[in-house]
Amino acid sequence: MNRKTQVGILGAGPAGLMLSHLLHRAGIASVVLEARDRDYVEQRVRAGVLEQGVVDLLNEAGVGERMQREGLRHEGIELRFGGTGHRIDFPSLTGGRAIMVYGQQEVVKDLIRARLADGGTILFDVANAMPQGFDTGKPSIRYTHAGAEHMLACDFIAGCDGFHGVSRQAIPAGALSAFERTYPFAWLGILAQAPPTHDELIYAYHDHGFALYSMRSPQITRLYLQVAPDADLAAWPDARIWSELHARLETGDGWKLTEGPVLERLLAPMRSFVAEPMRFGRLFLAGDAAHIVPPTGAKGMNLAMADVRTLAHALAGFYATGREDGLAAYSPTCLARIWRAEHFSWWMTSMLHRFPDDDAFGRRLQRSQLEYVTSSRAAAASLAENYVGLPFADLEELPHA
Ligand code: FAD
Ligand code: DHB
Repeated sequence: MNRKTQVGILGAGPAGLMLSHLLHRAGIASVVLEARDRDYVEQRVRAGVLEQGVVDLLNEAGVGERMQREGLRHEGIELRFGGTGHRIDFPSLTGGRAIMVYGQQEVVKDLIRARLADGGTILFDVANAMPQGFDTGKPSIRYTHAGAEHMLACDFIAGCDGFHGVSRQAIPAGALSAFERTYPFAWLGILAQAPPTHDELIYAYHDHGFALYSMRSPQITRLYLQVAPDADLAAWPDARIWSELHARLETGDGWKLTEGPVLERLLAPMRSFVAEPMRFGRLFLAGDAAHIVPPTGAKGMNLAMADVRTLAHALAGFYATGREDGLAAYSPTCLARIWRAEHFSWWMTSMLHRFPDDDAFGRRLQRSQLEYVTSSRAAAASLAENYVGLPFADLEELPHA
């Protein structure tokens, strides 16, 4: 069967769904093609921190109601090292900004519900999706759905299909430059049925390696441990995980981590990656399809949202005026923010993890950096403004509707 729409979107993660929603609000039709089923994408536990600008964007776009009710507003984080905690206070360092702790899968659920309520089309369980013709004026996406071959004809294709998707791979070799760094460790993450006993996130630097204390609700704690890059989950029974978490997170002041049943575990590799440019003809890459950050700075989902905000605006400008300058500005506008987040995530990662071939000199440098960032207002303000998110690009400077 052949279908037609204005924008064909690959991937129903935060980027694809938010793009479809923003386009709908601008009167532009789209179809989202997703490889997995609805239940899978709604249950996939990943990021948990929303920047202030993303919170504002979700509210302005009419999809922030449940987040406002159930999300946890945090006005600071703690950096823990040498057995002591040091708080970074966001509002006083950033002119009143803060973050929201609200699971990525909750954002995904809210967006899917909104798209379907607005009559939007999301096709789940799509196989063999292949973007084509995007270097001509007639792009399309070929795909298989419910056992039959289909073709979606569109004006533009948005590749929002994550790091392992087909969109970036469909661009001819040589047209993209890739910039990449891998790290000699991974994160082991768990979700535990245990009430958080600390109000804010804790980023801990410890001789055994990094640990992160986070949460999802007043009943659920989210915890991460730095582990070897080739770690095997089978070698990490619950007792070993809790023992490491106690060792890395607890301080001399008597604060104790509460244990509870482990509901979910994952291993996440650590990588920095950017593909430039984020456009080839009528194919636009957004979110993890174009870039990856190590999770230490909590930037992955936030960057994906910033990308599609810019892309929706550029497409709205094109449909309103026929002008292409907004589309031309998409990649450079996004890349400026992306490289700032790449630097911040690399910097947080470098400051907080144990590197296997580091020596005593390297560890003294890390301690010095941690002491500086927790004692100098200027250094703390730099961390805080990056963490809560720098202001979005001024879209008024791009041609608009
Ligand atoms: P995705 O969420 O990856 O969505 C892409 C979608 O495209 C998926 O639904 C996928 O099924 C679909 N898809 C893929 N291929 C195809 C295809 N061929 N055809 C159709 N559909 C396709 N960030 C943080 O900030 N903090 C964290 O703690 C954190 N933890 C993470 C843990 C893991 C295991 C992973 C993988 C990522 C984590 N991230 C984290 C990063 C963050 O979750 C991502 O940056 C975010 O999901 C990006 O959104 P996206 O929409 O661009 O991509
Ligand atoms: C969470 C994940 C992160 O990568 C981070 O930096 C902070 C919080 C989380 O899953 O809650």
